[in-house]
Amino acid sequence: MNIAIGSDHAGVELKEQIKTFLASKSIEVLDVGPHDEISVDYPDYAKLVTDHVCKDKNTLGILICGTGIGMSIAANKVNGIRAALVTSVEMAEMTKRHNNANVLCLSARMIDPEVNLAMVKTWLETDFEGDRHQRRIDKIHALEQ
Ligand code: RB5
Repeated sequence: MNIAIGSDHAGVELKEQIKTFLASKSIEVLDVGPHDEISVDYPDYAKLVTDHVCKDKNTLGILICGTGIGMSIAANKVNGIRAALVTSVEMAEMTKRHNNANVLCLSARMIDPEVNLAMVKTWLETDFEGDRHQRRIDKIHALEQ
């Protein structure tokens, strides 16, 4: 499994911390930027990350902005994307178990880095349960038509 990661200016520092964590787990990471804290527009980076997730089933996405809200709104406009904004380890676990979220959205300004790292770890280590949850996901994707 690979990770495509992106942020806006608010999330650059947390993005670096997450990259360090992922490298320590030998997970391949593609950083779509930005690489400095000059103001940018989060939908541009949501597009870059979701393009990678849509192209390759083995790629998951991580998107970071100040609140995580803008990134989650933007990413969920893309067909095939199930982006979840999470604020606790329990939410990170459940969004993999039940929603099979393929993009994790994080808040750099409102959630502590330790909690964000713990959520990334849990999301990556948790398996999707399938079964009735797959039926519900199929119904979500039917809404895209
Ligand atoms: C940027 O100031 C801020 O609006 C953005 O990072 C994000 O929180 C949007 O949802």
